Amino acid sequence: MNPALLRKEVQRRRTFAIIAHPDAGKTTLTEKLLLYGGAIQLAGMVKAKKDRKTATSDWMAMEKERGISISSAALQFEYKDHVLNLLDTPGHEDFSEDTYRTLMAADTGVMVLDAGKGVEAQTIKLFKVCRDRGIPILTFINKMDRPTKDMFVLLDEIEKVLGINAIPLVWPLGTGPDFKGVYSLAEKTLYLFDKTPSGSKKPSFKISGAMDKTLDENYDADIVQRFREDIELIEEGLTGFKKQEFLNGQCSPVFFGSAVNNFGIELFLNEFLDLAPAPDHLPLLDGNLLDPVESPFSAFVFKVQANMNRMHRDRIAFIRVTSGVFERGIQAIHNRLDKPVKLASSFAFFGQDRNTVDIAYPGDIIGVINPGTFQIGDILSEGKAPDLRPLPVFAPEIFATLSCKDTQSLKGFKKGLEQLAEEGILHLFQSKTIGSGSPIVGAMGRMQFEVFQRRLTDEYKVETNLNPLPYQVSRWVTDSDIAKLPSNVNLATDKNGISALLFETEWDMNYFSKNHPDIRLKEHPSQV
Ligand code: G4P
Repeated sequence: MNPALLRKEVQRRRTFAIIAHPDAGKTTLTEKLLLYGGAIQLAGMVKAKKDRKTATSDWMAMEKERGISISSAALQFEYKDHVLNLLDTPGHEDFSEDTYRTLMAADTGVMVLDAGKGVEAQTIKLFKVCRDRGIPILTFINKMDRPTKDMFVLLDEIEKVLGINAIPLVWPLGTGPDFKGVYSLAEKTLYLFDKTPSGSKKPSFKISGAMDKTLDENYDADIVQRFREDIELIEEGLTGFKKQEFLNGQCSPVFFGSAVNNFGIELFLNEFLDLAPAPDHLPLLDGNLLDPVESPFSAFVFKVQANMNRMHRDRIAFIRVTSGVFERGIQAIHNRLDKPVKLASSFAFFGQDRNTVDIAYPGDIIGVINPGTFQIGDILSEGKAPDLRPLPVFAPEIFATLSCKDTQSLKGFKKGLEQLAEEGILHLFQSKTIGSGSPIVGAMGRMQFEVFQRRLTDEYKVETNLNPLPYQVSRWVTDSDIAKLPSNVNLATDKNGISALLFETEWDMNYFSKNHPDIRLKEHPSQV
């Protein structure tokens, strides 16, 4: 492809993820963004909310209804000649590895806060992942129509708790029941709020500034006075917004609105297109950069999903294109297997629908059929694989043995274990020294176990028993160190046959290390 054309395609792409504590409004915002992009016609398509209330997680509710959230790794839509790839960050209460890895595929984060609650536990964790990657983050303060915290308290919370400068680009006129609209500081335009799900029908209008007389004519004196005081404070106190500082992850531009009323979103979206970076050069392990335009096709697998469609029972690997052009049927080198693979079937997913993707560009997310060859972190490329930074793998912190209730279902049990472990929902070990020979599963949180068991039942018709084990720490060891191990260790092998030691506490592991300095314990199997 002509590099100028490819550059143009790259420039118009924005690949991002919404990060939010459950209930802040992530799904509602997603839905409204899709409405703007024309990807859906009606509000309410993204999820059926009633189901969700009774479910313990989005995942399980989605499992019931097979809605968008589960079966889409990313939603693509066009808006104002831009192509937006919105990555789906699973909204588990439990913070899972899945979420981490999805964020690895995003170039920008959109942090949604509930104006009444501010920065919450999950916000902090998700923010940290974005921060560690150095990706820029925009903030959308949602639910301005409900009772809110003080706006300056909210900004202060972002700065103190998250450690990033929060710089408002718009400012609310009134809050909660008195919420009248938002004022764009740059445009000097007041956008008027209308409490209606389809979005504001009220006009926006330019004013000369906070002192404009129109405000006095139309709104209560106390609301106007408060607004003027706020604007004065902002103009005096808050340092000006600098795009480069935002791109460096040093400050976050702040917007206010009400997702459910479709208010403040268009303004946000327009600024987002302007501010959020297009897919850029990626840092490589050797210190070089991967040029998205000049380098041949490359992509990495960040998510693997089994049983995308119950009828087909197929497994899909989701890849993010990092450079060059993907064309359906392309012959790529699979870096881990060191062999060529033909990517003949490639799809974009939207709920139950899938569409064949013939061509994709850097920033795009596509699903390719996974006959069991792709794992999270694999790199596919034309020619030599770029040395992309490895995706994080987290050492599990809780363990259990998992057994099949009915020996008749053993075949399905084995298949389910293998396929679901491939998705990275949890870690699978085979014990060498512990228990009855049942497989050991390891996870970061209990929810992962629940989801795993539930999926084994639903998708593989296998009922299981879970027996918690007392371990909390796992460390991988090289084959050459195995001979040096004492006999009283808890040794297991992971799904790739790499040996791991399980310890009950961090203290036990440190004690072991001290007594066996010649045995190198690795936090990550790739270090072995
Ligand atoms: P999540 O994906 O982040 O978990 O949040 P979600 O969008 O599901 O929103 C959580 C709840 O907050 C929903 O109410 C949603 O309607 C509501 N909500 C979202 N944005 C706003 C807003 O700007 N103002 C107000 N007042 N509420 C908002 P729900 O009761 O769970 O569902 P529903 O019965 O209202 O549909």
